[in-house]
Amino acid sequence: MYQLCPSILSADFNRLGEQIKILEEEGIEWLHIDVMDGDFVPSISFGMPVIKSIRKESKLFFDVHLMVTEPERYIRDFVDCGADSITVHAEACEDLERTIEQIREAGVKVGVSIKPATPVNDISHMLEDVDMVLVMTVQPGFGGQKYLEECTEKIQELRDLIRDEDLNVDIQVDGGINDETMETVLKAGANLVVAGSYVFKDNLVSGVRHAKKRMNEVIREID
Ligand code: DX5
Ligand code: ZN
Repeated sequence: MYQLCPSILSADFNRLGEQIKILEEEGIEWLHIDVMDGDFVPSISFGMPVIKSIRKESKLFFDVHLMVTEPERYIRDFVDCGADSITVHAEACEDLERTIEQIREAGVKVGVSIKPATPVNDISHMLEDVDMVLVMTVQPGFGGQKYLEECTEKIQELRDLIRDEDLNVDIQVDGGINDETMETVLKAGANLVVAGSYVFKDNLVSGVRHAKKRMNEVIREID
């Protein structure tokens, strides 16, 4: 399963509901929701009240990416406000195994994320316990950064591990996606592609159509 996951961090928050509606009309199924706490990452984005509000109007799959220190404190809150999947950073958890269990027990999908400098090896022992691994391809914290080429081999390494162990784990990438890097990440093995500025930068309708078209072109080449 391939999905383009638009990140609302790049949305126009004055028109958030309207923009999410456009994404739905354009056939998007996953919405990437970046929560930042000003501690794990330098910036602060938004939290539960925003997610709760958009949940009332949207049927999209809410893919919540927590860039938050000790996210175990908030799992219940994010599930209650409408998350369908929660991704935590391996670097941010006191006890990563326990946090993953906690997310599972709360009844939503589980993702674990690694920053560009964190090796795949740090999480390879827990692949059986997660639904998705999110490989950050920029330093988490801001949209609109340049893709870090050194992350490509981590995607490949992860894909090989998942294949060798015959696991059912999605590989998501996040950061710096454009026409060129869309090809890089899909060919390296990612199947869930987060895109912020690529989709939202000019006109949203043409941005999302363009990104979907590019993604489909590359997928056709792979298959
Ligand atoms: C960065 C966030 C990303 C961000 C991606 O910390 O996790 O989801 O929105 O933005 P682009 O696609 O513009 O790099
Ligand atoms: Zn993200």
